[in-house]
Amino acid sequence: MKKISVAIDGHSSCGKSTLAKQIAKHFNYIYLDTGAMYRAVTLFAINQNIINKDDFDKDALIEKLPEINIEFKADENGKVNTYLNNQNVEEAIRTMRVSSFVSPIATVKEVREKMVELQQKMGSKGGVVMDGRDIGTVVLPKAELKVFMTAKDEIRAQRRFDELKEKGIDDTFENVLQNLKERDYIDSTREESPLLKAEDALVLDNSELSRDEQLEILKSWVEERGKL
Ligand code: DC
Repeated sequence: MKKISVAIDGHSSCGKSTLAKQIAKHFNYIYLDTGAMYRAVTLFAINQNIINKDDFDKDALIEKLPEINIEFKADENGKVNTYLNNQNVEEAIRTMRVSSFVSPIATVKEVREKMVELQQKMGSKGGVVMDGRDIGTVVLPKAELKVFMTAKDEIRAQRRFDELKEKGIDDTFENVLQNLKERDYIDSTREESPLLKAEDALVLDNSELSRDEQLEILKSWVEERGKL
């Protein structure tokens, strides 16, 4: 079977990265979490006080972009972690604080250009699964398989809420739902590479699907496209 490129886009918190990781493991493909890259830029901006609750100095971020180095490295157990300037930030980029600032950061054209260039370099050889918002439309427009994932707002918020609770992170369901809606709104309406379903993407609404059911559907799609 031919090794293909798989582009997975969709709304926040609908399980894209979990499914993308599983499918990459199954087919022995490389997995690339593009959201982690925008989160790492956001953490950099928070640490440098470029963004806070009242202010976002876009020009300062653009000026400091060359100082941002993002890498993915596997640990001894094979778990891939995100590194920002040689520091493992895998945990730090998943907080609600980073989630609440990431969408405005991801609207910046210069940030997107830098991330897309890196992503295209990392995914240039095929046998790759990438998840994000603009993978099928901008990063990998020629991907053999494009998937657009979604689920009902309340179901996505509940999943995210449970995940945060499991990690011991205290927040209310309403806050999580609000953050998710805000991110979807900014991601879908921004000028630069908005979240859009690529014309040739297959829709996977997982509101009523178990993880195993989703995996089976996606496996069959990858196998089908790999035969073409
Ligand atoms: O997938 P995620 O929730 O970790 O992504 C975090 C944010 O990054 C999301 O709100 C939008 C942005 N993003 C993007 O604009 N383009 C991508 N390819 C991936 C993520």
